[in-house]
Amino acid sequence: MVSGMSTPDMTVPMALPATDSRAVAATVRETHSVSIENVSVSYPIANKARRTVLENISLKIEEGEFVVLLGETGCGKSTLLRMMLGQERPTSGQISVAGSVVERVDARSGYVPQRYSLFPDRTVLENLCMGPETSKYHILGRLLPGFRAFRREVRAEACRQLAHMGLQQSDASKYPHQLSGGMQQRVAIAQTLMMKNRVLLMDEAFSALDPATRSSLQRLLRNVWQETRPTVVFVTHNTAEALYLGTRVVVLARASREDSCGSHVALDLKLADSGMSLRTHGQQFLDLVDHVDSFSRGDRKTTLDVSSEELEERTLISHGEKQI
Ligand SMILES: Nc1ncnc2c1ncn2[C@@H]1O[C@H](COP(=O)(O)OP(=O)(O)O)[C@@H](O)[C@H]1O
Ligand SMILES: [Mg+2]
Repeated sequence: MVSGMSTPDMTVPMALPATDSRAVAATVRETHSVSIENVSVSYPIANKARRTVLENISLKIEEGEFVVLLGETGCGKSTLLRMMLGQERPTSGQISVAGSVVERVDARSGYVPQRYSLFPDRTVLENLCMGPETSKYHILGRLLPGFRAFRREVRAEACRQLAHMGLQQSDASKYPHQLSGGMQQRVAIAQTLMMKNRVLLMDEAFSALDPATRSSLQRLLRNVWQETRPTVVFVTHNTAEALYLGTRVVVLARASREDSCGSHVALDLKLADSGMSLRTHGQQFLDLVDHVDSFSRGDRKTTLDVSSEELEERTLISHGEKQI
């Protein structure tokens, strides 16, 4: 790991007594959680009216959770993710990361979009090194004696990340246009991991890929998450992907098509850590996809509509006793 590359941890008091382990645990848990409190978003439309996109969303995402935001196209998933990153502000309510309110683009969170996140005129290696180098040394600082050693360290870390993402060392000198879509997304993930962010925000990051590349990147992402347990918020409209990746699936849906009606949390489902797929869980998996899809389509208005049998199922899943 490259020293000095991690994001400054503003909420961990430096002088915390080493013996107070409970206090340390509580602070660390707060450090990488995401809290969404009563967030609503609306945009002006014609005749001074407004269109509500999100309505009273409240979610507490704990340190190390892998949350998948699922919902039909246009339901406001990207809008919510952009607000977690700080690219946009909610119309009302607030979002906090690591216990502090997100007010501008938040360098504590890593972000992977669907595509085009690499600088086209820089090589893979330059793309990977740029973030750590610019965050630690401004242009004049590069004349300082420590910079060369730091740069060597960053380059070594970039090579490790490339290998970790299943890329060859020979890919390091290529430009993005010389890579397939799948390879570009591998580099985009490596670029984010270089910054050692403990919160990763990913928006339809695999949607533009062919099915085989997509499943190999899904496996890769799960492995990365299992190794270092960052807090992940992953947006998708693909239910099978959500159930395979997430430890928690949050479905956003609108109760009606009216402009005044924004998406709400229609389902908040905790899953066992192992990841579910058709291959491993057969018909049970297909049944769960149907179940989740019915919330996504808005067929079920609120989580309160879940029958007692389903509630029992949710509880079992959430405690990992029933491996669907
Ligand atoms: N800046 C904006 N101005 C007006 N409407 C917006 C803006 N950003 C998003 N929207 C609208 O919000 C809705 C939700 O968009 P989005 O979050 O991209 O949905 P999703 O990611 O779920 O497909 C869309 O109807 C979109 O047109
Ligand atoms: Mg989107």
